[in-house]
Amino acid sequence: MAAKFCRNIPETPEPLKAEVSGSIPLWLQGTLLRNGPGLFSIGNTSFNHWFDGMSLIHSFTFKHGEVYYRSKFLRSNTYLKNISANKIVVSEFGTMVYPDPCKNIFSKFFTHMLNSSADFTDNNLVNFIRYGDDYYASSEVNIINQIDPLTLDTVGRVSYKKYISLNLATAHPHYDEEGNTYNMGTAITPLSGPKFVIFKICSIPFRSKLYPSYFHSFGMTENYIIFVEQPFKLDIIRLITAYFRGVTWGKCLFFDQDDDTLFHIINRKTGVALKTKFCSAPFVVFHHINAYEEDDHVVFDMITYKDSNVYDFFYIDCMKQETEKFIEMSKTLSPPVCQRFVIPVNADLKIAKVDTYNKTHIVWSEEDCYPSEPKFVASPDAVDEDDGVILSSVVSTNPSKSSFMLVLDAKTLKEIARATINATVHLDLHGLFIPQASEMI
Ligand SMILES: [Fe+2]
Repeated sequence: MAAKFCRNIPETPEPLKAEVSGSIPLWLQGTLLRNGPGLFSIGNTSFNHWFDGMSLIHSFTFKHGEVYYRSKFLRSNTYLKNISANKIVVSEFGTMVYPDPCKNIFSKFFTHMLNSSADFTDNNLVNFIRYGDDYYASSEVNIINQIDPLTLDTVGRVSYKKYISLNLATAHPHYDEEGNTYNMGTAITPLSGPKFVIFKICSIPFRSKLYPSYFHSFGMTENYIIFVEQPFKLDIIRLITAYFRGVTWGKCLFFDQDDDTLFHIINRKTGVALKTKFCSAPFVVFHHINAYEEDDHVVFDMITYKDSNVYDFFYIDCMKQETEKFIEMSKTLSPPVCQRFVIPVNADLKIAKVDTYNKTHIVWSEEDCYPSEPKFVASPDAVDEDDGVILSSVVSTNPSKSSFMLVLDAKTLKEIARATINATVHLDLHGLFIPQASEMI
C-alpha cells in the first residue's frame, strides 16, 4: 500500500509548468520549498527506514497565477559518497553500514560519538532553516547544507560545531519578528557536562546524564522558550556501543513509561528558567503546534502519543506490507492526540485564596520568596469562616534576605506581620498549628 512512498524518485531539475485548475490568487507569489526522502536504494543496497532516504528537495513556485515545479537531490557529502560508491556507505537512522572493515573500530566508535567525522550522515532531509539571508536543508545532526532556493543547488555546508559545541540540533527552528532564528540542540560533551543548549540563550543539564531526552521541536512565545524534557530518551551507552553491536541509531531511543515529562519555561531575554518545575504524566511528543502567552500563563499545544511506536510504522518492510496487513499494523499505533498545557509563569511566588463559587481569587506574593503551605488559624471570636490569619513559613532564594514567618489577614491576604528568622530555614511540606490552650503545650 505505502510501497509507492519508498520508491526512488527521479529529479526534475528544470522548472516544469503545472496544469492549474481553479484560480490561484494573483497575490500568491513565491516559492514553497519542501524536503523529504526520495532515494531508498543505491546499487544493490537499500535503506531500512523511511527517514534514511536521501534528501530530495522540491519547490513549488507561484508566479502570476501559475505554478512551476522542480526537484533536486541535496548534494550532501553523504549523497555524493553513496552515489560515487554506487552503494550505501554512510549509516543512517535505521540503517547501519560498515563501509570500511579495515578501519580501526575504536576510531570509528569515537568519530561517530563525537560526530566529527564526515562519515556521520549529513543527509539533511527533514526541513529548511533560514539564517539571515541564507537557506539550509536541515535534519537533527549538527551539519546543515546550504541551498540556493531558486535553483535548488547545494552551495555550501556548515557545521554548527564551528560556532557552538553541539552533537544534535532540531530541524524545527523559530523566528522572531525581527527575523532572528532560534534553535536548540544536545551537547554530549563529557568535559563541560552533557546538556541541552538553546542557542545563545542558555543551557540545561540533562536530568539523567546517560539518558537525555530526545526532542524534535520546541515551543516559543513572545517572552519564553518551552522545552519539554520527555521520557522518550536516548540511551548514550547504547549509542556509543551501537557500532560494535550493529544497532542502529534509531534503536538507541526508548520510551521510559515510568518517568514523567518535565516542562522547562525559559525567559528568552535572561535565559533564566521558571523556578517552579511542572511535570505531567509520561508521553511522547515530536511536534509543537502553537504557543502563546495569556494572563500570566504560557499556553502551548502539542501532538502527543502514549508511546514511541510511531517510528516502527516507517520501517520500509512495514511500509511495503500488503494493504490489509498494513492497515492491521497501523491499528497498533498509538494515535496522535492534541494536548494543551497551561503553565503559570508566576506560580512560584504566590499564596492564593480562591473563591470557587464566584471564580475569583486574591494573592499574596513577594519577589524571590517561596511561601510554604498556608495554614489557617481561626480567631477566637470568629464569626465568618475566614476570620483569622494565614501562617506561612517563607524561604527566600535571595541570599541577602532572611526567611520569615508570614502572618496574613485571612480575609484579605494583606500582611499583618512577619517574623524574620535569623537562621537557615528549610523548605517544608505540611504542618499543624497547636493553640496555646491545648493541653499539648
Ligand atoms: Fe518534524
